[in-house]
Amino acid sequence: MKKMLIEMAPLEGITTAIFRSTYSKYFKGVDRIYTPFISVQSSRSFKKRDQREFIPFADNIVPQLLGNNPETFIWAAKVIRDEGYREINLNAGCPSGTVVAKKRGSGMLDDLIIFGRFLDAYFDAKEREDLPKLSVKTRVGIDSYDEAEDIARLYMKYPFSEIIVHPRIRKDFYKNKPNKAAYRIFYEMLPKEILVYNGDLFTTGDVEEIMEEFPGIRGVMLGRGLLADPFLADRIRGTHDLKPEEERRIMRSFLDELYHVYEGEMSGERDVLFKMKDIWQFMALDFPDAAGELKTIKKARSKAEYETAVNMILFH
Ligand SMILES: Cc1cc2nc3c(=O)[nH]c(=O)nc-3n(C[C@H](O)[C@H](O)[C@H](O)COP(=O)(O)O)c2cc1C
Repeated sequence: MKKMLIEMAPLEGITTAIFRSTYSKYFKGVDRIYTPFISVQSSRSFKKRDQREFIPFADNIVPQLLGNNPETFIWAAKVIRDEGYREINLNAGCPSGTVVAKKRGSGMLDDLIIFGRFLDAYFDAKEREDLPKLSVKTRVGIDSYDEAEDIARLYMKYPFSEIIVHPRIRKDFYKNKPNKAAYRIFYEMLPKEILVYNGDLFTTGDVEEIMEEFPGIRGVMLGRGLLADPFLADRIRGTHDLKPEEERRIMRSFLDELYHVYEGEMSGERDVLFKMKDIWQFMALDFPDAAGELKTIKKARSKAEYETAVNMILFH
């Protein structure tokens, strides 16, 4: 499975710029990393926090935009292009209530005529001027899997650079299982070489199964699985050869550095602990035997308490 593309999924509040650059120092195997969604404002400005997601330029990063107004979206695409990016990603998957209410994220799937007009506007403008390539990260429906075919038919009409399909519907949020039958609809209707699979891939076996079921796809995008096991991409490539003790040492160094960088960025210990606890929610999946220590991490009120619990988990 060496030739497939492996991408890190965007996780808002977790895989932010600091996390991504620290992760990349310690772990191999990921080809590209998506920023968490950057909201395109009608005021044609980016929040400071969002700017830090794509400035300075990094060539393994794909900025993801959340927006549904063609004019401001194209404005944002040009700002990002001017920073050096050749590709951007459109968020058509976010299930959050406030996002969907504004017909953004997976809310774009609600009216495919309006969504089509948005895509027409972008790709028409791209013919006339130098805009970044556009990929899309999408769910397969809002309320029903029956919507999948119409959505795939819409995407067929456009020269996307990549289509990342997370085969859940909006109503699922992150519950239930990804629906492989819905993925198959996309697989049969769209060019395989631009299709990426995303959703609930936690082990090498999970990825092998997908690549066998959907041969010829461009690759996979890993989110929670990669947080739970940061070596997962390297394992999938078959290039991982560390002993468990070495793995734990690298994990420790990674977590220390992450803590240290956040300390430099944030105003107090409480905020840093809050951030690290957020990240641990996802890393914890790989430590099913350490429920007690994980509770201690959750409850930690100081750096010392936090570090003791982390050491217990990694080196007990
Ligand atoms: C806390 C959290 C934040 C997320 N933020 C984003 C986001 O900003 N943009 C996006 O496209 N998807 C976002 N997602 C969805 C993930 O990128 C991914 O599609 C989903 O978790 C399924 O993949 P996984 O099972 O590999 O994690 C988020 C998911 C979670 C759990």
